[in-house]
Amino acid sequence: MIILLLLLFFTKMIAGAPSDSTVFGYIEEHQDIYVQRLKEWVSIESDSSNPEKRCQVVKMMNLTAEQLTQLGATVELVELGKQKLQNGNEIPLPPVILAEIITDPQKPTVCFYGHLDVQPAKYEDGWLTQPYTLEEKNGSMYGRGTSDDKGQVLAVLHAIEALQKHDLPMNVKFVYEGMEEVGSNGLFKLVEERNSTFFSDVDYIVITDTSWLSKKPGITYGTRGNLYFFIEVECARQDLHSGSFGGVVHEATSDLIFLLNTLADSSGRILVPGIYDAVANISNKEKEYFEKAEYNLEEIKAKFGIKNFKYNTKEEVLIQNTCYPSLSIHGIEGAFSASGTKTVIPAKVIGKFSIRLAPKMDPSVVEKQVIEYLHMKFAERNSPNRINITCVIKAKPWVSTDTDGPLYLAGKNAIKKVFNSEADFFREGGTIPIGPQFYEVTGKSTMFLGIGGPDDAHHGQNEKLDRYSEASSKYLFL
Ligand SMILES: *[C@@H]1O[C@H](CO)[C@@H](O)[C@H](O)[C@H]1NC(C)=O
Ligand SMILES: *[C@@H]1O[C@H](CO)[C@@H](O)[C@H](O)[C@H]1NC(C)=O
Ligand SMILES: *[C@@H]1O[C@H](CO)[C@@H](O)[C@H](O)[C@H]1NC(C)=O
Ligand SMILES: *[C@@H]1O[C@H](CO)[C@@H](O)[C@H](O)[C@H]1NC(C)=O
Ligand SMILES: *[C@@H]1O[C@H](CO)[C@@H](O)[C@H](O)[C@H]1NC(C)=O
Repeated sequence: MIILLLLLFFTKMIAGAPSDSTVFGYIEEHQDIYVQRLKEWVSIESDSSNPEKRCQVVKMMNLTAEQLTQLGATVELVELGKQKLQNGNEIPLPPVILAEIITDPQKPTVCFYGHLDVQPAKYEDGWLTQPYTLEEKNGSMYGRGTSDDKGQVLAVLHAIEALQKHDLPMNVKFVYEGMEEVGSNGLFKLVEERNSTFFSDVDYIVITDTSWLSKKPGITYGTRGNLYFFIEVECARQDLHSGSFGGVVHEATSDLIFLLNTLADSSGRILVPGIYDAVANISNKEKEYFEKAEYNLEEIKAKFGIKNFKYNTKEEVLIQNTCYPSLSIHGIEGAFSASGTKTVIPAKVIGKFSIRLAPKMDPSVVEKQVIEYLHMKFAERNSPNRINITCVIKAKPWVSTDTDGPLYLAGKNAIKKVFNSEADFFREGGTIPIGPQFYEVTGKSTMFLGIGGPDDAHHGQNEKLDRYSEASSKYLFL
């Protein structure tokens, strides 16, 4: 709904823009079709992190291209070549969709970005419903990708469809990818290649892949970057028996856990020397945003079953989570993880961790700092084991410098109109690599205007998207 209003706001000056009530009536009548489409999209397991699911990602791109064609868009599916996997094999990257609906070259052009791939999801992880079967309960639509980001992409297409039934008084472009969850492989190069063609007549870029902090709607004006590391440690050619080798070999898993444990202290402070040097200071204007933002720590804790945060106030939590770096340990590949009591000494383990980067931190500098630090720590341990540290995802942080410009004003007004409330302005703790890239390469004003809820559980179990917005009882997903 906000996206629809954003489009309407841009068209205010243009004679013949449809009246709000005719458009809203159309939306009312078509709700079930919209939800049915989302159900179909969710049923496609477009998990970009799993090479075996690659053809599902491609299928998802094809389906989206079809939907765009039905809207009368000119659609190009751009092939990006191959992805080299950790094991040396190569598989095709999913195509990127570049599409456009040009009604009149004189009119403004808004370019929307979103992604059609999803995070992995298994019922056994603790889902209450099958993750790839959309189920509606109490006004929320549950399923992987409902909020991140299939539902948000569909909301854009539905908004355009609803406007088109009357008159689409502007031009729209679309960039949709299928590798966002693993680092947007190949997309950055494509944006550079198409800067003087596809992007040249774009006036504004709107990214629909974010959530609000609370039930109060908001606009995201910055994102953290991300570096994802693998630490591989190998102690033997094959797995060993702890009865035969325990106590006499340098175990790979022990080395790895030692290394992972040197990365941050118990307060969460990252121990890599120099890592905080470049972190940008927060302006007073931003401090005000954080003070005004609606964010209920108690609600979030209750929802996710978290006992306590490391910080006590809303402002501290928001600032730590979005304006400073953080380190998370994600898992150990190759370690025994099944139930039971196997007495194995794994021969080779791969530890996985990532660092979210704050604005001004340079991914290449941080990568070097982290790798040097881990090698130094490993040397202290005197282990003969083979170690290999690689950085597999590198995404830059970003913060907008034109939050007072016309795009943000349009977003603010759209929110005001739908919800009758001021928009919260905040930064995103997560990473959307294409944000900074769009801004850096094209120089066009860029804004994140998502419709995800604060408790939608992106990447988690029981991901959902609300059908209605609580604040206004208007349709959120349309
Ligand atoms: C996607 O579309 C392309 C081009 O039409 C086609 O060659 C390919 O088989 C389709 N793939 C899937 C998985 O649907
Ligand atoms: C349904 O949603 C309402 C409003 O959010 C809530 O009060 C109620 O407990 C929910 N019911 C169930 C069964 O989840
Ligand atoms: C991309 O094109 C815009 C004009 O549309 C130009 O201002 C900008 O400098 C170009 N970016 C690069 C990296 O060449
Ligand atoms: C942040 O502010 C402190 C104290 O005013 C200053 O020493 C530091 O250089 C600033 N950091 C950056 C990245 O500008
Ligand atoms: C380390 O791992 C990377 C990525 O898997 C690989 O390309 C590289 O050859 C490895 N280096 C060593 C020394 O094993």
